[in-house]
Amino acid sequence: MLRRFFRLIRVLSIHWLGGLGVTLTTLSFVLFVALELLRLLGVLTNAYLGLITYMTLPAFFVLGLLVIPVGWWRLRKRTGKSSRALLNAKLDAQDLKAGFFGTGIGVTLLMLTLLNALFLGGGTVRMLRFMETPAFCGTACHVMAPEWAAYQDSPHARVACVRCHVGESAEAQVEAKLNGLRQMVSLMSGHYTRPIPTPVHQMRHSQETCQGCHWIGEVYGDRLKLKARFGEDAASTPSYTTLSLKVGHGKPSGARGAHWHAQADVRYASIDGARDQILWVESTDAQGQTRRWRNAAAAEGAEGVERRMDCVDCHNRVAHTLEGAEAGVDRLISDGALDRHSLPHLKREALSALTRHYEDEAAAMAGIEQQLHGHYRRDFPDVYTAKDKEIASAVTALQALYRRNVFPAMNITWGTYPSRMGHRDAPGCDRCHSRAMIDEAGRWISDDCGLCHDLLAQESPEPFQFMMPASEGDPDQHQKRWHQALYKRSLR
Ligand code: HEC
Ligand code: HEC
Ligand code: HEC
Ligand code: HEC
Ligand code: HEC
Repeated sequence: MLRRFFRLIRVLSIHWLGGLGVTLTTLSFVLFVALELLRLLGVLTNAYLGLITYMTLPAFFVLGLLVIPVGWWRLRKRTGKSSRALLNAKLDAQDLKAGFFGTGIGVTLLMLTLLNALFLGGGTVRMLRFMETPAFCGTACHVMAPEWAAYQDSPHARVACVRCHVGESAEAQVEAKLNGLRQMVSLMSGHYTRPIPTPVHQMRHSQETCQGCHWIGEVYGDRLKLKARFGEDAASTPSYTTLSLKVGHGKPSGARGAHWHAQADVRYASIDGARDQILWVESTDAQGQTRRWRNAAAAEGAEGVERRMDCVDCHNRVAHTLEGAEAGVDRLISDGALDRHSLPHLKREALSALTRHYEDEAAAMAGIEQQLHGHYRRDFPDVYTAKDKEIASAVTALQALYRRNVFPAMNITWGTYPSRMGHRDAPGCDRCHSRAMIDEAGRWISDDCGLCHDLLAQESPEPFQFMMPASEGDPDQHQKRWHQALYKRSLR
């Protein structure tokens, strides 16, 4: 049997193309088996290995199988002989004698074909499974580089892309595969938009995705959020904005917070589906009573794309947070990665280095270094020599911040993908909570500051500014008393 196998291989390899095909097929098969064994034994654990094992090797395997008949056909053309004649010349009568199942060589060929089919079947199943892993989704095509970078650095770094992007239902899975095919075609033909557009319209409702892990019935209560920001003065002086965000739902007192939307039935239509500008909002309560608000600022006849509100209308960057330049620098100073005590005007210079226009990443890396070195060499020569280590580590941290958030090849710069959580840097809660959003009676969706949060400090050197004792003569005393009363009320 084995002897026959080798003879068959020899015959197929007479033409160099046949030889190439046999080599490709055999080599990729052997490598596949070896890599799978090493993976099963736990020797190889690299997630990217799947790109070779389940994508590249099977591709070479199939290519080899396709090349073999071409080689045979070329051989027949060159020699002018029939297949039968060629086989007769190269094999002995034993191989070609017809037995119960056909000729010996025919049986060998059949067995090999069966083995190939088995291998390809198994390989396809493994490949489909591999295609659902984050390593594949995030790295197989370079256009995902920004999402991949952000994802690996997010609280969901261990949640598979498909858990949020596809969901569990069979319908969603089929839809996703078709959609994936479409994306592959547009990638290969170069017809894709850069940056990749957001929102992602084909994402399922969060009931099928997020809520498989998160139970919104849990009372999250209030969330204290302290934001440290730094000034552009020499000391990069800190100031604090502190919020007590009302997130929790269904407190016994009847107070409710942001998570009310996730349980209520809220529908809305956004102009052109971009979700920046809302055309109308509707909410239906448990008794089936519907209220409707319309955007008085929207043009008559504007077209809206309808949707049921869910988690990602607020948490739109949960897996792909791209920081703004200022937020990033503030965080690095807070973390101590940028040493504001040693380096004068650090905030100002860092921000200016990051936000200049650069053609590509290499230019940005050089530009950031030049700006910081130039600034200290020119304006603070003493600092430049004494604090060279601090300057070097600031340069490294800022370069990393740039690489993590700006992707010139994908036209992604600071702020390309804003967060909807809040109302400071991009339209968020205020898309609906606005005086332009009125019902038939002319009442608007509340934009009352205390509906969503209590302010405990606003750009103050004191992180709990409004919670400090309100003494007579203090210019802030009225504001403090007002905020304290509001805050106390919300705690009840
Ligand atoms: C925790 C849930 C979650 C996970 C896990 C996740 N994503 Fe996303 N992804 C989102 C949300 C939410 C959006 C924004 C949707 C919107 O605004 O409509 C998004 C948007 C995107 C976009 C559109 C462009 C953009 O940045 O808005 C791409 C591409 C993308 N994700 C790729 C991936 C890849 C690749 C992975 C895995 C490596 C992944 N996602 C994992 C939730 C997730
Ligand atoms: C497979 C389970 C899973 C899915 C699906 C999932 N999450 Fe999470 N999520 C988690 C876990 C686990 C954490 C906590 C991570 C930690 O604290 O390290 C988390 C954390 C979070 C946080 C807190 C983030 C922070 O900064 O601390 C938010 C908000 C969140 N998820 C929202 C979402 C949304 C919105 C979706 C759907 C688009 C989603 N999650 C889908 C498991 C999941
Ligand atoms: C109307 C906006 C909004 C919607 C809709 C919404 N959330 Fe939130 N969520 C918030 C706000 C605001 C916070 C507090 C801000 C923060 O922690 O950054 C928060 C906080 C959270 C946290 C962190 C809680 C913690 O312990 O720190 C999780 C987890 C979360 N949301 C999950 C979800 C899930 C899952 C859904 C969908 C079922 C959802 N949210 C829908 C606004 C929303
Ligand atoms: C798509 C529109 C929309 C967006 C975006 C939106 N809301 Fe709302 N929100 C509503 C509607 C509608 C109501 C109900 C108003 C009413 O009943 O008068 C509401 C009510 C609320 C309430 C009061 C809940 C209650 O009944 O006690 C809070 C708190 C709230 N929103 C917080 C937020 C926060 C925080 C954000 C941003 C993170 C946000 N909302 C974004 C539409 C929206
Ligand atoms: C519908 C809900 C809602 C309303 C109404 C609202 N806010 Fe906010 N606001 C938020 C949320 C959510 C954030 C948190 C953003 C974040 O986590 O970064 C925020 C953040 C802020 C911040 C901190 C911004 C920063 O990053 O420094 C300030 C200051 C603020 N709000 C002031 C106000 C004032 C003043 C009003 C009233 C005129 C108001 N807000 C009304 C939801 C609301």
